[in-house]
Amino acid sequence: MNTALSPDARADLIQKEMTRDEMLVLVDGYLGVAYQKGFHDPIPAWMKPLLPGSAGFVPGIPRLGIPALTESDASLGVANGGNMRPGDTAVALPSSLLTAATFNPSVAFEGGAMIGREARAKGFNVMLAGGVNLAREPRNGRTFEYVGEDPWLAGLIAGASIKGIQSQSIISTAKHFAFNDQETARTVMSVAMEEGDARESDLLAFEIALEKGDPGAIMCSYNRYKNVYACENPYLLTDVLRSDWGYQGFVLSDWGAVHSTEKAVNAGLDQESSNGSDAIDFFGTPLRDAVAKGTVPEARLRQMVHRILRTMFAKGLFDRPVVKGPIDVYGDLAVAQKNAEEGIVLLKNEKAALPLDPGKKRQKIAVIGGFADKGVLSGGGSSQVHGIGHTKDMHVSLGGGTKVIGGTTWTLPRDTGVLHATAPLAEIKKMAPKARVSFTDGDDIAQAVAAAKKADVAIVFATQYMTEGVDVIDLALPGNQNALIEAVAAANPNTIVVLETGGPVTMPWLDRVAGVVEAWYPGNGGAAAIARILFGEVNPSGRLPVTFPLAESQLPHPIITGQRPDRKIVGTSGTPTAYDVIYQEGSRVGYRWFEDQKLTPQFPFGYGLSYTSFAFENLKLVGASTIKAEFDVKNTGIRAGKTVAQVYVKPPFGPVRLVGFEKVELSPGESKHVTLYADRRLIAMFNADANQWNVAEGDYVVRLGGSATDKAAVGTVHVNAGTVRP
Ligand code: BGC
Repeated sequence: MNTALSPDARADLIQKEMTRDEMLVLVDGYLGVAYQKGFHDPIPAWMKPLLPGSAGFVPGIPRLGIPALTESDASLGVANGGNMRPGDTAVALPSSLLTAATFNPSVAFEGGAMIGREARAKGFNVMLAGGVNLAREPRNGRTFEYVGEDPWLAGLIAGASIKGIQSQSIISTAKHFAFNDQETARTVMSVAMEEGDARESDLLAFEIALEKGDPGAIMCSYNRYKNVYACENPYLLTDVLRSDWGYQGFVLSDWGAVHSTEKAVNAGLDQESSNGSDAIDFFGTPLRDAVAKGTVPEARLRQMVHRILRTMFAKGLFDRPVVKGPIDVYGDLAVAQKNAEEGIVLLKNEKAALPLDPGKKRQKIAVIGGFADKGVLSGGGSSQVHGIGHTKDMHVSLGGGTKVIGGTTWTLPRDTGVLHATAPLAEIKKMAPKARVSFTDGDDIAQAVAAAKKADVAIVFATQYMTEGVDVIDLALPGNQNALIEAVAAANPNTIVVLETGGPVTMPWLDRVAGVVEAWYPGNGGAAAIARILFGEVNPSGRLPVTFPLAESQLPHPIITGQRPDRKIVGTSGTPTAYDVIYQEGSRVGYRWFEDQKLTPQFPFGYGLSYTSFAFENLKLVGASTIKAEFDVKNTGIRAGKTVAQVYVKPPFGPVRLVGFEKVELSPGESKHVTLYADRRLIAMFNADANQWNVAEGDYVVRLGGSATDKAAVGTVHVNAGTVRP
């Protein structure tokens, strides 16, 4: 307990006292609940009373004062969902994708710190957070848990969130390492992608998140990379993570992602999570036997334990043990609301339809659809938070039935979605107390049209549910919602659509509506944030962290590889034959793909409107070893607001990339000077043979603007040849 010693020295001291059996305890995790459907139950009777009632548990060693690891999911708040801790609620942050849309790492840090505080109060010291898989497949059922399609943005936002969590003296993971970019066939698929492309895209996002956030643990993913499961992949777990990135923390497995003992251990997996989720307890008796036989060297077991213990010291688990207590509900709700207010994106605002005037006399507002009388939608799966104000009523039935696409009939899953308080309807009424506000649920289109006809403004709430384990089949709003919006817009030209979606959706009705607000899954503070944006108390400043395509045909895969109309997954977990998913776009993810293929999306990456206007001017560039961009951002409108200045570079070879951004807050007429330097990896190409980044000599085209396609200012700068070692 001598805090003057380094975490490594402290780990060494404790390890000297440990028996081999005790070391084996620390590398073998359990599910944190005694029984859950679909998991077998290998949990010893003595352990049951100690279980935290959550995703995972690794028993401590009381004799040596080593605390247990108590793990909870935490992508968007402390997950307490399913049947785990009935009655337990936590503040639901917005989806991670909304947080990415803030383009503001300090907002991500505050959200992380909020998660960390609540985790401590609920008795958890490991957060299964830090999802940083790239949104290369917008139909991925977990798009909402991740932080967009660009490696720099994703790495900065995930890194800041991890740092925020760990500021509370607990461990956060980064996950899912690596390439778990779709849910379809996630436990059997093998991602085929050239190493150079991988380093410039998915792996770069992790690399940056690790540098910025220093997560105590990395969670390896379900899928394979180049035919080898991620959790037994020496290239990922040792060559990249340890040799190239110098990572000091420990690698834990995703729940059910382990398939071997020797292979996994020797590749670099340090801890098996929730062994009951795997086919057998690979890090139990088989590991003990392997160490006895010498097929796993004793030194490797010591290294695994060292990494776990040194991380527990480094992150504060010994010095500041978690203590259960109440959470600060109001303080945390304020964090969640502020987060939502910065990440909601105004996509369309024809003839300044927004903001609405809260004081307008005899104003009639028709609120339609999207469960707006009850709450805001959230995404499903292991990240599910049961938010403050949760009741049984907040479970809603969605989806089901069939849909015909191109002559093929697809089966749609029937889901139960969870809503978060508060209700947008109530917040709108609060915001405009003099208005007459009606509500219709949108199921009956004729009724909605009648309400819209009588109103001055119609606000349609539309939802797209996403959940872990299954991808959406297309980007259309499900059910009758497109027809509903068309009909309401035809009845009232003053129609505003508020989207609550996991990721991008297509908008066939876009030309007919006056306004569109993308609210994502906005969490417990979401309804208040939406209302404040609709009525102008908050000037929207979110920007799209993913491209919104016009149609699925614009995507690299018009249909997700392996997705079948009957929704049955090809193969089963443990199938020896890998099932290939070829991401032929390589590092040309999202906006890079669109530019490369000369495709015009519905809305580009980085896009978003404001109630004021901005100018980007006086771009000055300096080249040589990297690119320095200096410029001014000016608020040219009559309201205060924030914008995101974005700098994109097209090198002589390879795709365009975002090399820097800054969120700037400006009063009317105010101007600010911004200086950005490109991280050299962002302007380089990765050469796998030489294992280094190569910066090519030549002229680089630099674009400054408010999105990936905006060319408010363009310049060219000469950069010298150079290399960067990973
Ligand atoms: C998910 C992980 C999660 C784990 C524990 C898995 O199914 O992929 O993200 O942390 O479950 O709940």
